[in-house]
Amino acid sequence: MKLLIINGGPRKSGRTKMAATYMAKVYKAEHFDLSEKEFPLFNGEEAASQHHHVQELRKLVIEADAIVLLSPEYHNAMSGALKNALDFLSSEHFSHKPVALVAVAGGGKGGINALNNMRTVMRGLYAHSIPKQVVLDPNCFDYERKELHSESALLIEQLVKELTVYTEAIQNIDQ
Ligand SMILES: Cc1cc2nc3c(=O)[nH]c(=O)nc-3n(C[C@H](O)[C@H](O)[C@H](O)COP(=O)(O)O)c2cc1C
Repeated sequence: MKLLIINGGPRKSGRTKMAATYMAKVYKAEHFDLSEKEFPLFNGEEAASQHHHVQELRKLVIEADAIVLLSPEYHNAMSGALKNALDFLSSEHFSHKPVALVAVAGGGKGGINALNNMRTVMRGLYAHSIPKQVVLDPNCFDYERKELHSESALLIEQLVKELTVYTEAIQNIDQ
């Protein structure tokens, strides 16, 4: 399975980036990291649409068998950086694509709004967001090792397993 991890967190020192980097390493996935890109602002102009980072993201999404979308929860939503990047894409890129959602939140039961927000936007792009989803709070991280504590790592493992099941099912239907 060709897996693409999209880090929707804009902070280079952010927990979302840490989770995305961890996942890309463990699952040997392609990693598109918005915190490392000077991504243009969507303004409907052709020049922005032709930007190399936009082209790169479109190509990676089309080529992926499955995608994991990670976003921090900022003010009860996905990050503005991720929404801006997704505005450059369409059903042309996402149709039939199985997507797993991960929110990185501040604790205190945050995260669900970012997940619901991503799910709504994925529906707009005709992607298949799988029902299973994960919220990572600050206490899920091993900051020294830059990875997840074992309980959270297990949740992520179960999420990727579930994503694999849906990916294989969708590939069978599409054949
Ligand atoms: C502007 C801003 C808004 C935030 N809003 C929320 C929120 O609505 N719910 C929540 O659980 N955490 C919120 N937080 C906390 C972040 O989700 C948390 O710090 C998370 O680790 C952010 O991911 P990052 O480290 O990749 O930036 C907010 C943080 C910032 C900077």
